[in-house]
Amino acid sequence: MTGEPVETRLIRAPRGAMDLAGLRLAADALVAGKLVAFPTETVYGLGANALDEEAVLSIYKVKGRPGDNPLIVHLAHTGLIPTVVADIPPMAVPLIERFMPGPLTLVMRRGPSIASAVSAGLDTVAVRCPSHPVAQAFLSMAGVPVAAPSANLSGRPSPTHARHVMEDMGGKIPFVIDGGACEVGLESTVLDVTGDVPVLLRPGAVTADQIREACGVTPRRSSGTAQGPVRSPGMKYRHYAPRATVLVGVGRSLAARARHTAELVQEEVAAGHRVGVFASARAILLIREMQKTAPEGEWPVRLISYGELDDSVQASARLFDAFRTLDASGVDRIVVQSLPEKGLGVAYMNRVHKASAHKTGE
Ligand code: TXA
Ligand code: MG
Repeated sequence: MTGEPVETRLIRAPRGAMDLAGLRLAADALVAGKLVAFPTETVYGLGANALDEEAVLSIYKVKGRPGDNPLIVHLAHTGLIPTVVADIPPMAVPLIERFMPGPLTLVMRRGPSIASAVSAGLDTVAVRCPSHPVAQAFLSMAGVPVAAPSANLSGRPSPTHARHVMEDMGGKIPFVIDGGACEVGLESTVLDVTGDVPVLLRPGAVTADQIREACGVTPRRSSGTAQGPVRSPGMKYRHYAPRATVLVGVGRSLAARARHTAELVQEEVAAGHRVGVFASARAILLIREMQKTAPEGEWPVRLISYGELDDSVQASARLFDAFRTLDASGVDRIVVQSLPEKGLGVAYMNRVHKASAHKTGE
């Protein structure tokens, strides 16, 4: 793939009314070595034929992704897993049965078929079978394993709508398949099952508790900064980061989190900042009350609600869109309400922390 601009064709694939001819065109292009962005239930992926070294290398180029950060191989159904791995560890069997297709990625020993650039020099491969019907239709039509990272430019929030993909990839790749908003909104759980104990490399919608229930072993959390070989190279890179500085409203109770969120907004406005907010409806009510007592003039605050105080499902589904929307509105601070770190809240807070870290000195 050269750096020359290409015309990006948007293929519409709403649920139940897919443009099958369009999908076929995109699938043929992918098999022939082109890049195609497609929807999944987690986030949009930037796909390449995983059997084609050149095509896989072009993903790194287009995303601006470091060459030592490996890609996930996407398959149309779980029956294809043996075609890309050397073996399926016994521990993986109940996980595959219970959570695939779905938002779980398993790292296993790689087989010889896939391009070496997929694994970025590791002897393992990450495998995922998306549950999104458009992803499944597209992967079946392609008939090859598809290497795909999230379809954002490196360092930007993962795309959860086709318009996010167009922002980052428009003019760079020939096809974007629009399957609507991603239901989960956070990237898949990544679990390394090559050792005696499963290692959770990235939290996602499939939780550590669910993994323990399914395979009888409690997964170990990867520290990410441990000495020795890096098990998931992606963890050392800056991720999920909006341009604005992210501040987090915390507290013991849900109500305290909402109050702290509102207080942070007040402080940042007083310090002269333009502030974006992603918070519960309760916090947003508190912030609106403050606005009433604020001096006349412009109120430099942009509000986005995720709904109920404890709604980690909606908060997760909307987080990355909120980051992009608030960034585009020109704020220089984004205040995000925290959620308790249980269930999906673990993955949500992982992404919030990643977005709020690494900011000083940049
Ligand atoms: O939900 C998702 O997983 C989305 C959709 C498109 O499937 N994909 C995604 O890909 O988030 P990406 O490339 O943005 O993140 C993949 C993560 C990275 O942290 C990478 O380091 C890790 O998975 N990974 C990939 N292959 C690996 C391997 N062989 N060993 C360890 N970690 C691996
Ligand atoms: Mg990514």
